[in-house]
Amino acid sequence: MTQAIVVERDGAVLTLRLNRPDKKNALTREMYGQLAQALEQADADACVHALLICGTAECFTSGNDIADFLQQPPEDMSSPVFRFMRSLLECRKPVVAAVAGAAVGIGTTLLLHCDLVYVSRDARLRMPFVNLGLSPEFGSSLLLPQLLGPARAAQLLLLGEGFSGEQAAAWGLANAALPEGVATLEAARDAAQRLAALAPAAVQDSKRLLKAPGREQLRQVIEDEGWLFIQRLSSSEAVAALSGFMNKPRSP
Ligand code: COA
Repeated sequence: MTQAIVVERDGAVLTLRLNRPDKKNALTREMYGQLAQALEQADADACVHALLICGTAECFTSGNDIADFLQQPPEDMSSPVFRFMRSLLECRKPVVAAVAGAAVGIGTTLLLHCDLVYVSRDARLRMPFVNLGLSPEFGSSLLLPQLLGPARAAQLLLLGEGFSGEQAAAWGLANAALPEGVATLEAARDAAQRLAALAPAAVQDSKRLLKAPGREQLRQVIEDEGWLFIQRLSSSEAVAALSGFMNKPRSP
C-alpha cells in the first residue's frame, strides 16, 4: 500500500515526504499522527541531526483534508493536528522545508516554524481560513504581523490573498526562491545536509536561542487559536464553505 507519509533516512538527515498526490497531499488525521510520531522520534534520536519536510516537485500540500474536517474534526488539543503542531514547534533539531506548487492552509502556516524554507518561484501559498469560515492557526495571528507588519498580515489572513514563492522570499518568509520544483527540493536537501554536518549540540543550542523570544506567548496563542478553530469548524459558515469545496464539480 502507498504510504501517504514517507520517512527516509539519509545519513543524519531525516526526510518526511508528503505523498498523497491524488489529493494534492491533503493532510488527514492519520498523516498528522505519522508526522508527529516521526518528529518526536527524530527529536529523541541522537543519530538524526536535521529534518527535511517536503512534498513532490509539483505540490507541497493542499492543507488539511477537507473531508476530514467535515467528518472527523479535531475535538481538543489531543487531536493529531495539534499533536503535529506541538511536535514541530518543540522540535530541537533544525527543520528545513521544500515548497513547490500549492502550499495551502497549514501548508503555509507550518513554514513559520521551520528553520530554513526553500520555495519554487511559482509556488502558490495561501491561508484561506476566513474564506472557509475558519480562523488563523498555528501562531500565524501572532507571527505574521510581527514578520510582515499588520497591513500585509491582514491581507493574507483577513482577505485570504494568495502569494507566490517569489513574494515569500522577498518578504523574508523563505530563504530562497528557486526556478522550479526539482531545484527547490535539491536546495532544501543540500541545506539539510549542511546543517547535519555541523556540530549537533551547537546547532540545537543556537536554534533554541533563536526561537526563545516570545516562546510562552506563542504556545498560548497556538492553544487559543486552536480552541477558536475547533469552534469555527462546527459553525454554519464553515460547514457551508467546506461542503462547497467537496461538492464542487471537477473535470474527470
Ligand atoms: N482536502 C481534501 N481533498 C482535496 C484537498 C483538500 N484540502 N485539496 C484537493 N483535494 C482533492 C480534490 O477534491 C480532488 O479530488 P478528486 O480528484 O477526487 O475530485 C483532488 O484533490 C485534486 O484537486 P483539484 O482541486 O482538482 O486540483 P487543482 O490542481 O485544480 O487545485 C488546489 C489544487 C490545492 C489549489 C485546490 O485543490 C484547493 O484549493 N484545495 C483546497 C485547499 C484548501 O482550502 N485547504 C484547506 C485549508 S484550511
